[in-house]
Amino acid sequence: MKILANDGISPSGKTALEQAGFEVITEKVAQENLADEINKQGIVGVLVRSATTVRKEVIDACPGLKLIGRGGVGMDNIDVDYARSKGLEVINTPAASSQSVAELVFAHLFGAVRFIYDANRQMPANGVTEFGKLKKNYAKGLELRGKTIGIIGFGRIGQSVAQYALGLGMNVLYCDRSKKAVDITVEVANAGGITVTLPVSDMDTLLAQSDFISIHVPKQADGSAVITATQFAKMKDGVVIINAARGGVVNEADLITALDNDKVAHAGLDVYDNEPTPSAAILAHKKVSLTPHIGAATVEAQDRIGTELAEKIASYFSVTA
Ligand code: 3PG
Repeated sequence: MKILANDGISPSGKTALEQAGFEVITEKVAQENLADEINKQGIVGVLVRSATTVRKEVIDACPGLKLIGRGGVGMDNIDVDYARSKGLEVINTPAASSQSVAELVFAHLFGAVRFIYDANRQMPANGVTEFGKLKKNYAKGLELRGKTIGIIGFGRIGQSVAQYALGLGMNVLYCDRSKKAVDITVEVANAGGITVTLPVSDMDTLLAQSDFISIHVPKQADGSAVITATQFAKMKDGVVIINAARGGVVNEADLITALDNDKVAHAGLDVYDNEPTPSAAILAHKKVSLTPHIGAATVEAQDRIGTELAEKIASYFSVTA
């Protein structure tokens, strides 16, 4: 049985699939040729990350396709309900990358409050001639310890962000559709876990009290933004916003306005409207720390993702991985 891993798969995942008897194809197929290639090669399972979409048209065109696997969390690039209604198995790996995304959130946050992203742009060009000026430009950094982080969306990734924040000595507020308090356990090396019960906040309290805000909601079904000018107006002046969730959950035009009028001091963005071609205005903004959708792009997360996919695929096709 042939599996096409169109956006790649970790060596561990590929090996596990091969040991279970699958042939794994990793040569990338262009989006427009996907259905033809699946049919031509007799592929039974297609694995994607966010770069490849599997919409109704592909599903309809590929009667031999049995399984769609998303190596990662967000399935907004797959017509999941339609595929399932046609009897296809659709799987993802919802837990495997939480820690990697959470660490990227803090990479952006630490980089923002100490201007590291900007220093890395300025130093190569101006570090020799304007060292003193740059030192002065970056003189008003902030510490994270003791500050409040507001986490919007408190699923696995949001909770992982909370673990890191608590470990850093930050106060944590969160809001979520489910209105329950959540126990967060912080593992302290050689000392076991310390569990903190965090009550849920309402959105307005979170917006008003947070020094930093990180968003961890899926792309909304209607494509609407969760953070727009209305929410920016309720935030503290000088707030830092991190979006490692999905492009569009923060309205980019409103974000640029909020950055330009100093409501938002910095934004850390891993995701964008119109990926893979983000707007020049956002890419060129001097107060934005930028990464190209790499929240799950660690060796460890991809290793867990590949292995989990292999296990789920083998189990679905009733072979042993
Ligand atoms: C996810 O939803 O898992 C992340 O956004 C990662 O996407 P990627 O697999 O395309 O890096």
